[in-house]
Amino acid sequence: MIHFNSETRAFNLLLDNSYYAFRVDGADRLVHIGWGPLHGAPALISGAVVEREYDVASFEQQLRRDELVAYGDTSYHEVALKVCFNQLPAIMLPSEDAHLPIRDVRLRYTGHEIVTDAQPGLAPAHGLPTLINTPRETLRVFLDDPAQPFRVTLCYRLTPEHDIIERWCELENHGMAAVDIEACAFATVHVPNGVSEMTSVTGTWAREFTLQRERLPHGLRILESRTLQTSHAANPFFFLNRPGQAWEESGTVYFGLLAYSGSWRIAVDHLPTLDVRVHGGYNPADFALRLHPGERHVTPAMVCGVSANGWGGASRRVHAFTRERISPRPPRDSAYRPVLYNSWEATYFDLSVAGQTELARKAASIGVELFCVDDGWFGARRNDFAGLGDWVVSPAVFPDGLGPLISEVKRLGMKFGLWVEPEMVNPDSDLYRAHPDWVLHFPGRPRSEARNQLILDYGRPEVAAYIYEALDKLLSEYAIDFIKWDMNRNATEPGSPAGKGVWRAHVEGVYGLMDRLRQKHPGVDIQSCSGGGGRIDLGILGRTDQVWTSDNTDALDRIRIQEGYSLAYPARCMEAWVTHAHNHQTGRDNALSTRFDVAMRGALGIGASLNQLDAAELAEYASYIAFYKRIRHVIQDGELYRLQRLEEFGASVIEYILPDGSEAVYSVAVRDSMVGLLRPAAQLCGLNPTATYTVIDRSDRELLRATGHELMALGIPGDINQGAGYSRTLHLKQQP
Ligand code: GLA
Repeated sequence: MIHFNSETRAFNLLLDNSYYAFRVDGADRLVHIGWGPLHGAPALISGAVVEREYDVASFEQQLRRDELVAYGDTSYHEVALKVCFNQLPAIMLPSEDAHLPIRDVRLRYTGHEIVTDAQPGLAPAHGLPTLINTPRETLRVFLDDPAQPFRVTLCYRLTPEHDIIERWCELENHGMAAVDIEACAFATVHVPNGVSEMTSVTGTWAREFTLQRERLPHGLRILESRTLQTSHAANPFFFLNRPGQAWEESGTVYFGLLAYSGSWRIAVDHLPTLDVRVHGGYNPADFALRLHPGERHVTPAMVCGVSANGWGGASRRVHAFTRERISPRPPRDSAYRPVLYNSWEATYFDLSVAGQTELARKAASIGVELFCVDDGWFGARRNDFAGLGDWVVSPAVFPDGLGPLISEVKRLGMKFGLWVEPEMVNPDSDLYRAHPDWVLHFPGRPRSEARNQLILDYGRPEVAAYIYEALDKLLSEYAIDFIKWDMNRNATEPGSPAGKGVWRAHVEGVYGLMDRLRQKHPGVDIQSCSGGGGRIDLGILGRTDQVWTSDNTDALDRIRIQEGYSLAYPARCMEAWVTHAHNHQTGRDNALSTRFDVAMRGALGIGASLNQLDAAELAEYASYIAFYKRIRHVIQDGELYRLQRLEEFGASVIEYILPDGSEAVYSVAVRDSMVGLLRPAAQLCGLNPTATYTVIDRSDRELLRATGHELMALGIPGDINQGAGYSRTLHLKQQP
């Protein structure tokens, strides 16, 4: 509910378990009041109870909590918005021209409206439904500059059941001269003073989502990507709590995520006064946005929320929000993500019709539902030196096109998927030979290659149009159900006719291509991959169905990667493969049970070379896949509890549970253990205390029968003194 008190000019945004309040002050500035969990029944905060000294000393003028902190007025710290006006206000003398541009924007309240179905910038335009599509209330607050014809509209869209507010802003130039935006975050959020412990993730290729928790020093802490994708090194989300006062299921945790896949920045400003404010949006590095007269820019959203149930409560809110409101849910024969087979680690570039057909037959025999051909099927792509950009089936690999293989895959009852990397080109390709100017570059400078490839310039409309034609042709010609959309290098030398605007243009180009393709081919699902987990965020999740979490498929490494991923993103979208016993990335050998137990925590895939497995091993695979199919409705649509995390005990114990508590999946995986140290048993969560549950293993054997209370008090016996590599997955069912 959105409430405005016209006397005190206070706004209250009331969600199911939280509130967010701000007001218009005496100088018409929009000032934050507070944000946090609701204490019992919803109640309003009136502007009258708020007493805050803005300027306590001439050296500290930053205490006013503007809802959007903008450069101008008394702001000189980090800001969300910096604007340059190239024209003097009408009343000024031309002799003041020398002061142009005016680098000062003032935002004064002039009105507001409450609407439904307002959309942030770069919202999906594919037209596919989400699970829940009911309209949501959005508050739009108009802030006008008193001296310049410039308006900023702050938008707040409410999803009360998940305590989530999406925030974004719209910038409008109503004047006769261009306005230059030098910095533009989607939102500023203020958390209560002292909320200065931050959880975020860092990493590299094959080491994504490494959790970091830190006590923020005073000053700026920056999380960012300076590439054209989301990044392996950071991910656009933060959790904030009072130091030492939040844990997995307790304490107040504030969170925010950006729905954007390009060059982004989250700047957490911890002022010496203990104020903490977060600006999240476009990275100001190499940023420019010019608004010509009459132009408007709508930013993507920052998705924010607060949980009174610790980090776990924060994760569950974002997961549910993503499943219900962000992920596309076009009608499909199954409500769940299919079990996938991908031959990349089995064959790499060594593709052939016979080899793929043999793999497909084996995959079908063990229960795989989606067979995906990876890199190497097109142009001159026999290795990673050539062919990218030439999206035509290679007759050297598939003499009769993809048709025969696809028919066989379909005859076997599976869906067919194909790998593409539409933003890239190898210099050794027909596309590059025809259009050497179509890549990002600066004239007179070398074009640095990475993995032997250059980046197509999506700042040129003709490039995205060409790629659309090529992919559309492919999807029209063949019965393709799934594409794995890869992106395998970071950006350097980002020269483009779009200038600095290329950072945004690239993201817009990728989103636009995906949206157009999905609209035209609504039966096709998309996986987002960027050398593993380099493009995972709420923007890409609005147009893709699943993401490749990491190229590192070592089960023990994966426990940690998946745990970090799970802070922000739901299991339903998290692709996780079982690959060879001897892992290709780490050289470590892991038991099949560990590999399956860890991969079954997400959308299960198989990436092992099935030809190297004997009949007994294939039967084991089949038994795990059959088990996964019996429990995936709980994994993919249930709520996650991280019962024990790696950072505590070296083991990860998680539970997925249906919202009504009737079924749960319990999964334990030990990464490190020490002789003589006993972990506590992991107490389950969310069960119905008086109900009786059966605990069932993969072979459908009942291991235990206990009440919800017993399981929540004492856990499931048998796991506490197990060594590294130990794992198991159990299915809990409430008895009628
Ligand atoms: C990237 C992906 C892999 C695979 C290769 C193909 O590294 O992350 O899964 O598709 O490209 O070249």
